[in-house]
Amino acid sequence: MEVKVFRNAVEASEFVAEEMVKQIKRQQNSTLGVATGRTMDAIYDRFVNQAKKDNLDVSKVKAFAVDEYLGLKKGSPNSYEAYLNLHLFDHLNFNRDHLFVPNVSMDNIDLIGSEYENNISQAGGVDLQLLGIGLNGHIGLNEPGSAIDSRTRVVALTGSTMNSNKVLFQNEGMPLTAVTIGIGTILEARKIFLVATGHTKAEVVQKVVNGDVNSKIPATALKDHSNSFLILDQEAAHLI
Ligand code: GLP
Repeated sequence: MEVKVFRNAVEASEFVAEEMVKQIKRQQNSTLGVATGRTMDAIYDRFVNQAKKDNLDVSKVKAFAVDEYLGLKKGSPNSYEAYLNLHLFDHLNFNRDHLFVPNVSMDNIDLIGSEYENNISQAGGVDLQLLGIGLNGHIGLNEPGSAIDSRTRVVALTGSTMNSNKVLFQNEGMPLTAVTIGIGTILEARKIFLVATGHTKAEVVQKVVNGDVNSKIPATALKDHSNSFLILDQEAAHLI
């Protein structure tokens, strides 16, 4: 995993947004793995602006959400699907049929994971995977203890995740469970950007950079991937 440190969050986000644009220019039908969360807001905002300036054709791009909550009201603005529409698919010439999110309305929740994995395989796998990191080292919603070869599945959220994300919920409580792609699923992406900005991420970033691969800090799994990058601003990097 190569570590790149930028002066601030704006420069780190610009770098990742530019890499997304380059990926799509190289290959119009790219498949992106798309994370959600506050870190991603600035990245998607810059990506949309840059793509507009460049008249980028994104109609053939496919995007796979990293995770989705279980048990939200239908059409909830708190879903990750709503987030990805708001920040990406409501803009540019994206094809709505090309946004994939785990099908949390399936009656048999045990089948959600295998269906999603099939969708990813049928799309030819993920070319560029974007990830944020939780304060406890989670990637997607692979909480501490997740196996390195885990696949898309239903997971219970930890107290740490509940605490940091509950402020984002409007008009409904935060669910206790979600579906996340697995660490094994993530490691099959051809290129991965793990992004952390701001001083609150400094401690966990230090544990990722200085620790060996271990399931207590799920993001360390990316150290075994030959084309993965940890993108930081100076605040997130200040303990390494
Ligand atoms: C959330 C999301 C993750 C995200 C992470 C960091 O729980 N499910 O995909 O990467 O936590 O979020 P933020 O960027 O808001 O700190």
